[in-house]
Amino acid sequence: MYLDRLDFAIKLARRVGFYLLQHWGNALNVREKSSFQDIVSDCDKQAQQMIVSEIERYFPHEAILAEEDRFETGQKLWIVDPIDGTMNFVHGLPSFAVGIAYSEFGDVLIGVVHDPVLNETFYAVKGEGAYRNGEKISVSTNATLRESIGNVGFYVGFTGHFVNAIEKRVRRMRMMGSAVLAASYVACGRFDFFVARRANPWDVAPVLLIVPEAGGCVTDLDGKQASLSSGAYLFSNGKLHSEVLEIINKVKGSER
Ligand code: IPD
Ligand code: CA
Ligand code: CA
Repeated sequence: MYLDRLDFAIKLARRVGFYLLQHWGNALNVREKSSFQDIVSDCDKQAQQMIVSEIERYFPHEAILAEEDRFETGQKLWIVDPIDGTMNFVHGLPSFAVGIAYSEFGDVLIGVVHDPVLNETFYAVKGEGAYRNGEKISVSTNATLRESIGNVGFYVGFTGHFVNAIEKRVRRMRMMGSAVLAASYVACGRFDFFVARRANPWDVAPVLLIVPEAGGCVTDLDGKQASLSSGAYLFSNGKLHSEVLEIINKVKGSER
C-alpha cells in the first residue's frame, strides 16, 4: 500500500524536477515574499500546482499542506515543498529540490526528496530503510567533531554566532541553501550534521523520515523528539548529536 504511494511520489517529484530544470537560473516572475530575504517565483507556484493536482486526482479525500498557500490539516496529510532552495534555483545555483511527504496522524510514513540537477532521488518508507536512486544509504560513522563536515541553514541572528562557536572544532562548515537536501546529505553520509534553526513542516517533512531510516538522529534543539511542528531541528549521524546540541544551546543564549 505504501509502496504504491512511494512510487507515485517519486514519479511526481521527478516530473516536477524536469519542469524546474527548464527554468533553472531563469525563473518566471521572481518577487519578494515575506521580506527582501525571501523570494518566490511563478515556477514555485506552477510546480506546486503540478503536485497538488495529481494528489487531488489520485487521493481526493486526503489533505494537503503545501508552502504556496495551501494550508490544510488532516489525519492523512501530504506535505509539499515544490522548490526547497528557491534562492539557489533563481540564482542558477545547483542545490535545490522537490520535497514530498505523506503522513498519518502526524507521523511521516513516506518521504521523497528529488534533486533535478544531480538527478538524485532520496526516499524512504517507514520501517524499510532509506535509499538514493535505488541504493540503500546510511549516515556516516564519524564520531569525532574534528573530522566532521556540517551544514547550517541561514537564519539571521543565529547562523553567524553558531559558525563562530563551532568553526575551530570542525573540519568544515557549509551553508547549502536547501534544508531537505542538506538533511538528505546527512542521510547518505556526505554531511555529519545539519542544523535548521527555523524550519516549516514542508522544509523538513521528508527528511524527518529519511534521516532516521538511514540510521541517523533528528531532534529539536533541546534534544527532544522531533515532530512536524518542532520548528527547529538538528539532524546528525547520531554520534555527534549531543556535542553539536551543546554548542547550539550555548549560542541560542546569545541570539539577537
Ligand atoms: C528555505 C530553504 C533554506 C532554509 C530556509 C527555507 P525555500 O526554503 O530550505 O535552506 O534556510 O529556512 O525557508 O523558501 O527555498 O522553500
Ligand atoms: Ca519552497
Ligand atoms: Ca523550503
